[in-house]
Amino acid sequence: MVELIDQLGRRIDYLRISITDRCNLRCQYCMPETGVDNLTHQQLLSYEELIKVVRVAARLGIKKIRLTGGDPLVRRGIVDFVRMLKEIQGIEEVSLTTNGILLQEKGADLVEAGLDRVNISLDTLQRDKFREITRIGEFEQVWRGIEEALWLELAPIKINTVLMKGINDDEIFDFIDLTRKYPLHVRFIEFMPMGGQKLEQEEKYLSIEELKKKIKEKEQLLPSQFATGNGPAYYYQVAEGLGSVGFISPISNHFCSSCNRIRLTATGWLRPCLCSDDEINLKELIRNNSSEDKLEERFLEAIGHKPDQHQLGQEDNLVKHMSQIGG
Ligand code: 5AD
Ligand code: SF4
Repeated sequence: MVELIDQLGRRIDYLRISITDRCNLRCQYCMPETGVDNLTHQQLLSYEELIKVVRVAARLGIKKIRLTGGDPLVRRGIVDFVRMLKEIQGIEEVSLTTNGILLQEKGADLVEAGLDRVNISLDTLQRDKFREITRIGEFEQVWRGIEEALWLELAPIKINTVLMKGINDDEIFDFIDLTRKYPLHVRFIEFMPMGGQKLEQEEKYLSIEELKKKIKEKEQLLPSQFATGNGPAYYYQVAEGLGSVGFISPISNHFCSSCNRIRLTATGWLRPCLCSDDEINLKELIRNNSSEDKLEERFLEAIGHKPDQHQLGQEDNLVKHMSQIGG
């Protein structure tokens, strides 16, 4: 079995691919209101080019692929792309992270093409607030997407909830209730200051520690049987819960030492760390028709660039918006 181990002994087996920077929502923390300048078709890696990258990645030891965006479901042809990915030798799992808006429409086809699971981003369960956070979205559409995922048994279905003080911290227990009623795994994520936002100016930031304190006043969290390999979340559950409650603390307690992933941006740059704009150009090689060996070399170079830990929250080192990287 091939394994990709970096200089710090981290096993890298997970590639996140942003297949588009476009999105059908405009979440406040992710995009400026006007949207970012959309990439042209020519700037994006084509599906054929992406398949070439994934083949090389699989040869090196990547086993799991996650498609992100923008929102991956807005890119045309995604169903066939998932099918192609599933055919690549060495790729064991293909998943995606979506805002859920198009899940009702595309879920069944994606499952038929071999999609293994989905993560759905959802920061509020209230329709007015949903509109406020996403600027243009309809909560019901996402909820129908979640129901579709449940119906299709795309398990485990994870809900990503970015914690924002004064915005959704009054809904913590409503989200926990979801895990009581449904086999959903709600993950509370600390707000990250991306796209030039500064943490200290962000009165929105709430640490996982503070969150847990609040939760303990009302609920008892038990250890959960639910675990997901070496992802960044720690899981608990409420008694008789069907799902679980997870915590992800990229800021207060970062998990860089067990980081197992690398990212590919929609424009074909390898990004060794979510939180650093250090990127390595793969597109150039692909467009020059370079050999797989050359691509492999560049890939390994990118792995070598993975920092031992990120500086997010300490200095303002980010220029990009989340929608350009895919989270
Ligand atoms: N801080 C934390 N999480 C974020 N996401 C997007 N922007 C931020 C941010 N500033 C999350 C989304 C999505 C995942 C890919 O990243 O909610 O679920
Ligand atoms: Fe779209 Fe997700 Fe960004 Fe919201 S957070 S604008 S759903 S990419």
